[in-house]
Amino acid sequence: MTDKPKKPVSGRTTSPNSPEFMKFISAGWADETSKLPAKADAAGYAAKRRATVAEAFPGKILVIEAGGNVTRSNDTEYRYRAHTSFAHLTGWGAKTVPDSVLVIDARAHAHHSQLFFRKTAGRETEEFFTNAAIGEFWVGPRPGLDSVAALLDIETHDLAELDELLSKLPDDLVLRLSDADLAQFLDELRLVKDEYEIEQMRGAVAASVEGFHDVIRALPKAINHERGERVIETAFFARARMDGNDLGYETIAASGSHACILHWIQNDGPVREGDLLLLDAGVELESLYTADVTRTIPITGHFNPTQRKVYEAVLEAADAAFAIAKPGVLFQELHEAAMEVIAKKMIEWGFIDITLEEALAGDRQLHRRWMVHGTSHHLGMDVHDCDKARKEMYREAPLREGMVFTIEPGLYFQPDDLRVPEEFRGIGVRIEDDVLVTEFGVENLTAALPRHPDDVEAWMAATA
Ligand code: GLY
Ligand code: MN
Ligand code: MN
Repeated sequence: MTDKPKKPVSGRTTSPNSPEFMKFISAGWADETSKLPAKADAAGYAAKRRATVAEAFPGKILVIEAGGNVTRSNDTEYRYRAHTSFAHLTGWGAKTVPDSVLVIDARAHAHHSQLFFRKTAGRETEEFFTNAAIGEFWVGPRPGLDSVAALLDIETHDLAELDELLSKLPDDLVLRLSDADLAQFLDELRLVKDEYEIEQMRGAVAASVEGFHDVIRALPKAINHERGERVIETAFFARARMDGNDLGYETIAASGSHACILHWIQNDGPVREGDLLLLDAGVELESLYTADVTRTIPITGHFNPTQRKVYEAVLEAADAAFAIAKPGVLFQELHEAAMEVIAKKMIEWGFIDITLEEALAGDRQLHRRWMVHGTSHHLGMDVHDCDKARKEMYREAPLREGMVFTIEPGLYFQPDDLRVPEEFRGIGVRIEDDVLVTEFGVENLTAALPRHPDDVEAWMAATA
């Protein structure tokens, strides 16, 4: 598990490794500065979370792995992303050293946490200069043990010591993330956000809002490009990267009937005047918290009557969920409130010929032909956060202050749907907001982005 990533074998190049060369490259570098970083804002919150986990698993040793790099192809890797539970329990976000491991020893009353990571190899080693997988000449400097201890306020050790520690422990004492009970507990631990997490969510939303504004500005360029959706995707990504952030998931830049493909991430279609553009995108901060926002906008700046009719129906469904959202209401009741509106509309428009009671009964739900996804999901470090939580803790659970989730109904009329009149075909609309449960209701964190169709049109006119 803690094997060092090997130096990739390749017939492509050779590097000198004569004693003379190694001596030459190892020396002549300025001394490292040893200023320790200040304690991270997340550190105290992460310590509390570790204490909660230790209390829930007395007598066990919990091994929480950050995970390693994932290969994209051959010897190139995707941008590294630590496991969410590891980040949540350490406070270490985007700068986590790959393959790090948190060990929480809950055998004694006062639990003991240790963080193992691959410490800097030192310039006297061959690894430093020649290992393209982990050598610091290749992938950048790694922090020292003292530095991470100061940053995260945790005991740190070299990863090389971990195997020996684990080899001394009886197997039945050790729980890892592959253990279903532990994984479930850790996901349920994130259902209610603490004040640090809420602040991060606000930051992720604010950064995402800027990206949406930039996309509106990029529309003329997108219209004039044969792969206009790529221009849209890039405008959002550029804002995220220029602000020093990343994305929480692949952007969905879906123009025209692509909006009916729920997870359209190919983003290679044109952006045509007269169509709608559905943009589902979220910025992820260095702390790994992400927003998840969708706006559907008329590319010319004005909805046509059918587009507006569909848009207003979706908005009404979203507003129905907003209207009842408060502590004590069951999570699934939000979906039911939104679906009642959608079912009513589909009956009113003559797309299904049954009563509302029949439509909503059991798993009949014929109106779901036009909205097959759910209305809400928890949101945090994972875009679909807390996914391993039990249904009693998730969809069947009452809302609690501090929960953050999406409200995102939609209507999608596929271009080949013979059950709807022609003018509806190819129209897809989703409105997705991120909300925080407060004492008496919910706060719409994404309220800075217009939702009402008149406001969307005014926003586009003002941004043009
Ligand atoms: N962006 C994926 C979702 O809305 O759930
Ligand atoms: Mn979502
Ligand atoms: Mn989304």
